[in-house]
Amino acid sequence: MVISPSAVGTTGRSRAHVIEMHLDTLYQVSQVLSCSSGLQEILSGVLHVLHESSDMRCGMVSLLDPGSGELMVGAAHTGTREKVEKVRYRPGEGLMGAILKEGDTVMVGRIADEPRFLDRMGLYAPDLPFVGVPIRVGEDNPIGVLAAQPSCGDDGLLEERARFLEMVANLLAQTVRRAWDLEQERRALTDERDRLRRQVRGGYHLDNVVGHSKEMRRVFEQVRQVAKWHTTVLVRGETGTGKELIANAIHYNSPRANGHFVKLNCAALPDNLLESELFGHERGAFTGAVSQRKGRFEQADGGTIFLDEIGEISQAFQAKLLRVLQEGEFERVGGTRTLKVDVRVIAATNRPLEEDVERGDFREDLYYRLNVMPIFVPALRNRSEDIPDLARFLVDKLAKAQGRPLDITDSAIRTLMRHEWPGNVRELENCLERAAIMSETGTIDLDAINLTGLEDKLPLGRKPEPEVEVDLDDPDLDERERVIAALERAGWVQAKAARLLGMTPRQIAYRIQTLKIRVRQF
Ligand SMILES: Nc1ncnc2c1ncn2[C@@H]1O[C@H](COP(=O)(O)OP(=O)(O)OP(=O)(O)O)[C@@H](O)[C@H]1O
Ligand SMILES: [Mg+2]
Repeated sequence: MVISPSAVGTTGRSRAHVIEMHLDTLYQVSQVLSCSSGLQEILSGVLHVLHESSDMRCGMVSLLDPGSGELMVGAAHTGTREKVEKVRYRPGEGLMGAILKEGDTVMVGRIADEPRFLDRMGLYAPDLPFVGVPIRVGEDNPIGVLAAQPSCGDDGLLEERARFLEMVANLLAQTVRRAWDLEQERRALTDERDRLRRQVRGGYHLDNVVGHSKEMRRVFEQVRQVAKWHTTVLVRGETGTGKELIANAIHYNSPRANGHFVKLNCAALPDNLLESELFGHERGAFTGAVSQRKGRFEQADGGTIFLDEIGEISQAFQAKLLRVLQEGEFERVGGTRTLKVDVRVIAATNRPLEEDVERGDFREDLYYRLNVMPIFVPALRNRSEDIPDLARFLVDKLAKAQGRPLDITDSAIRTLMRHEWPGNVRELENCLERAAIMSETGTIDLDAINLTGLEDKLPLGRKPEPEVEVDLDDPDLDERERVIAALERAGWVQAKAARLLGMTPRQIAYRIQTLKIRVRQF
């Protein structure tokens, strides 16, 4: 509703009329605030209500840009179209800048008479009045300015209009503040996410995969080549050679590095759990499925899935996996909808898969699907020239973990080079960890290495004989020793060790805890 100049005046009726109109507008403003979601939508909505329902036209909200300290026009209403221009005011500059700086409401009877008026937006009629109010939360400095132009000449009711605009500004202030807080939180979270990603990626930079032997250089070259593409990779090698490390390096050096790297140890779960873990399940798919859950394949969409110990999956599961690898399609357990995902698959195994295929234990078609690009990680005994660098690298890693300086002597390194390392790099790492614990001074010397029991191991040149391994069925064997021996034989993969001992994974986890065995989490 518009008050025409002829109807204006300071009569009680006109004032009552204007106040009633303002009350009605305030109600509408509160509705915009409670129904709209984004800040921009709210600002435009409020200015629209002001323009349509009150006598305040061409509203404009300028907000403080915390980075530059300047006012930036956030929204403006021209009557015909909404207009947001990249207009800025420095604090104190022009009328807007003055309101921000002083924090006071400004009322002008005729805007053309106001020397500070800059008319940057070209919004206002020169003969009409102008009202600008600070937007502030509590007693703090203003965080913005709300301005508008009454649609009629000075009728003696500018004070009322200014109070009205102040009320609207107060309502807006809370919303602006909340939006800023949310934005700040969002930015902090994305910064943190990016920082963690950089850190993780840095950890799997090929520089952190140690080795300069011919064999390892070939592996690095293969990783570099294959990382660029979507190809399925099968990482092969004995236990503890660094297969998982290589899988990580492929992902974090690939164009998918910003996507998720999702890992699943196929040996750790029985078939039915493996299926719901990989493909997810619908609500009510089985007892205990109280809600729908995304599987690892869905979680890895746009990224990489790492299927560790792929050689351990059952025949039935091999068929299910084949379909995802072939079609990229699957259904959640208990679901009918076919889901399609974009996932790069990296699998790993220490099993002689060709022999398994020969025996009929592993599907030939699945073998060919997986074996598109095999990478063989060499055993440590075949590249003992890598041991000095590896030992120093692992000692640095331990020093960080233990929070104290650690170093290793050359004689200790020479002793390490003379051994077979059936458990490969993981065994070397465990040996160094034990040695570090034995070393009170922080220097890992020959004595510390000998204290780990390494001298009992076979010297280089002699084939490891399985017969000399601890007999797990020996009744005289101490329970702790038995569990440790099984864990060592299983390359510290708990599910495998459990199988050697005829236990469930849960049982072995419990023993490890009660016997206080130090196990690294893989
Ligand atoms: N070349 C390497 N440089 C640095 N650290 C390595 C290297 N190779 C292996 N490691 C470390 O050795 C440990 C074992 O590596 P990883 O878990 O990748 O082996 P794996 O082949 O997956 O073993 P498993 O077959 O038992 O699962 C990890 O802590 C890993 O960081
Ligand atoms: Mg592994």
